[in-house]
Amino acid sequence: MNVQTPTHTADATTVEEGLALQQEKAKFDSQAATDLAMQNTILTPRFYTTDFDELDAIDVTPVRPQWDALLGRMKADPNKGHFRKTEDWDQIDWEGMEPELKKEFLDFLISSCTAEFSGCVLYKEMKRRGNNSDICELFSYMSRDEARHAGFINDALREAGVAVNLGFLTKQKKYTYFRPKFIYYATYLSEKIGYARYITIYRHLEAHPEHRFHPIFKWFKEWCNDEFSHGEAFALLMKTEPKITQSFTNKLWIRFFLTAVYATMWVRDHARPKFHEALGVDIDWYDMEVFRKTSAIARQVFPVELDIDNPRFRSGLDRMNRAFLAMDRARRRGGVAGALGRAKAGAAAALAFAQLYTIPVKRNEVPEDPRLEPAY
Ligand SMILES: [Fe+2]
Ligand SMILES: [Fe+2]
Repeated sequence: MNVQTPTHTADATTVEEGLALQQEKAKFDSQAATDLAMQNTILTPRFYTTDFDELDAIDVTPVRPQWDALLGRMKADPNKGHFRKTEDWDQIDWEGMEPELKKEFLDFLISSCTAEFSGCVLYKEMKRRGNNSDICELFSYMSRDEARHAGFINDALREAGVAVNLGFLTKQKKYTYFRPKFIYYATYLSEKIGYARYITIYRHLEAHPEHRFHPIFKWFKEWCNDEFSHGEAFALLMKTEPKITQSFTNKLWIRFFLTAVYATMWVRDHARPKFHEALGVDIDWYDMEVFRKTSAIARQVFPVELDIDNPRFRSGLDRMNRAFLAMDRARRRGGVAGALGRAKAGAAAALAFAQLYTIPVKRNEVPEDPRLEPAY
């Protein structure tokens, strides 16, 4: 029998295969892009580690029928081969791109690649350390997908002469420890918000193809379906133990994560005006739209929801953005004045967060069966 070894991450059926292929290409990867991916600030994607034994001990019996259905779909691997350049991939004139747009777009790609890879590393580690066959199977599919996603963005970056050295990142980037329940909240949200972000851009560009200034956006539809399934898996994991989402303290934590994730996205997106202008997207509209979709989806599992229509929400986000801009200016100023400015901006950001966090939340009756279909 002639078994072909894949030569592209799009065809890799395991995370190990995908990463080995990326490592092959890494000889040419850029120091500058890797440096950017190495950064650990509040706004840059982090790498996570957790208590893998606790995760491994999960019993999925309470959600068995939904679990088997979801894993069956992931096993069938509908997106195998998708994440590669085809004849739909138009050539991009990187040299001719307006410098500010190029800078912001590269920053977007590098941070997206880091975020995808962050998921890959965490999921791969769970797969490696676990003994629970249900958990290991799930994490092997999810790490497979994230390796393809990160690899595909890196392929796009390589055309611009920059790419992230993923092997280096795995070894050198700092890992943040999160207890499993925090991993559920954060990862569930980042998967679902990832879905909402990708599908909103995809639908917008479907209606306004003249704004599609790079071919990668054509791949976003299948991409977001992967993220949607990953989010479904975390919804099921949370469903195995009611207290994870229903206890008083955990509701406060869920509220905290929702606030932190939404505020971070707002500040990060507002730092890329040229990129959104090129897409023909109003940042305020886009972010609110993504929050709206994410909030609607999260009703499948979260008993509380942020009241994003409360006027204090928008003003809190704008306040947060101003605090981060002030922090940035202070950092560039340096010296004593810079340090004072940073402290002041830090306090302003904390107050903005408090304003957002204390907006009364909406209560929500969580359905028995969390299963959802990607509907946008
Ligand atoms: Fe992904
Ligand atoms: Fe994902």
